[in-house]
Amino acid sequence: MTHLIQLEGVAKRYDSAGAPALGPIDLHVAQGEALAVTGPSGSGKSTLLNLVAGLDKPTEGAVTVAGQRVDRLNEHASARFRRERIGMVFQFFNLLDDLTVADNIQLPAQLTGTPRRKAAARAAELMDVLGIGTHARAYPGRLSGGERQRVAVARALVNRPALLLADEPTGALDTASGRDVRELLVDLHQGGQTIVLVTHDLSLAEACASRTIRLVDGHLAFDSRTEAVR
Ligand SMILES: Nc1ncnc2c1ncn2[C@@H]1O[C@H](COP(=O)(O)OP(=O)(O)OP(=O)(O)O)[C@@H](O)[C@H]1O
Ligand SMILES: [Mg+2]
Repeated sequence: MTHLIQLEGVAKRYDSAGAPALGPIDLHVAQGEALAVTGPSGSGKSTLLNLVAGLDKPTEGAVTVAGQRVDRLNEHASARFRRERIGMVFQFFNLLDDLTVADNIQLPAQLTGTPRRKAAARAAELMDVLGIGTHARAYPGRLSGGERQRVAVARALVNRPALLLADEPTGALDTASGRDVRELLVDLHQGGQTIVLVTHDLSLAEACASRTIRLVDGHLAFDSRTEAVR
């Protein structure tokens, strides 16, 4: 089996005193898997996601994503790797408020050198699929939370990333919008997208994920693949 993500003996300490915020843990995520990462506040979920994204470096161990040792990349190479291979979605959307919806979505494609016309076509296709086409020329500030999150998902997918990372993507949404985003994640998974989803919401994890892990105090306390509770 090809593993899109491999964490080998990975630990992260933010300060030298006390226990690490994460790990050491081993974790392999297969291509096409939708992994939900659950656990209490402060258990290391976002830390794990940031290490996978190369946004932060582990104190120990090796993080390999799509065959690339992301922990060994310098800042520039890491940013480039993220732009090309990883899509990220956050709780509070992180859209650029002075760009239109279409321009927000196209931006990562243009940053990787996709010609404007091609980027626009890909953005249009995604807006269509995600049901936000009528808002193409609107500014994010005028959209509902659910619509903004769909824009953020479209932006994350514009470069056809090997991996989609989502940190509490429904955390700031009302129930109905949360349901829309949930359905979107289910569809993406069914289409073969590899996803790592951090969520407090166990029903979201159950609906979207093919596998669930639970972190407690930075350790892997449960993995539905092995059902071993440690
Ligand atoms: N940049 C940082 N500097 C110092 N400590 C940090 C930093 N980021 C996280 N921590 C600490 O590491 C631990 C794990 O934090 P993390 O953000 O990964 O938890 P989480 O599971 O995502 O929590 P939440 O559900 O509240 O988002 C916490 O004790 C947190 O205070
Ligand atoms: Mg977090």
